[in-house]
Amino acid sequence: MTTVNVSVLLLTISSPDESSLKYEVEFLLFQRWVDERLRFDDDGNHTYLNALMYRHQLWMPDTYFILHGEFKELKGPVDPVHMALKIFANGTVMYITRY
Ligand SMILES: *[C@@H]1O[C@H](CO)[C@@H](O)[C@H](O)[C@H]1NC(C)=O
Ligand SMILES: *[C@@H]1O[C@H](CO)[C@@H](O)[C@H](O)[C@H]1NC(C)=O
Repeated sequence: MTTVNVSVLLLTISSPDESSLKYEVEFLLFQRWVDERLRFDDDGNHTYLNALMYRHQLWMPDTYFILHGEFKELKGPVDPVHMALKIFANGTVMYITRY
């Protein structure tokens, strides 16, 4: 079992139409987990590796949100902006996306 630590940083919240209850939000999603297979030892030359380009080859959590009782897949119509994917020497992976 892998535990994924998740935190959200709300950047903006706005209402495009004041007569409705719809809101647009922009936020950063931080996810952190440990994948022991990705440990590396390069004598401390690199604190972490930038692995954003290789994210399709790594195990990634399948994160989704439940909003108003409905499933809203983050991978669906709302494509996230992939900000950073860092692999630390001890196998800790940090993944930041913006929605
Ligand atoms: C996740 O959070 C828990 C509790 O704060 C902590 O013990 C654990 O080390 C964290 N895991 C990662 C991968 O950051
Ligand atoms: C792994 O390395 C990261 C970055 O140096 C650090 O924040 C984290 O606490 C380390 N985790 C463990 C379990 O040592």
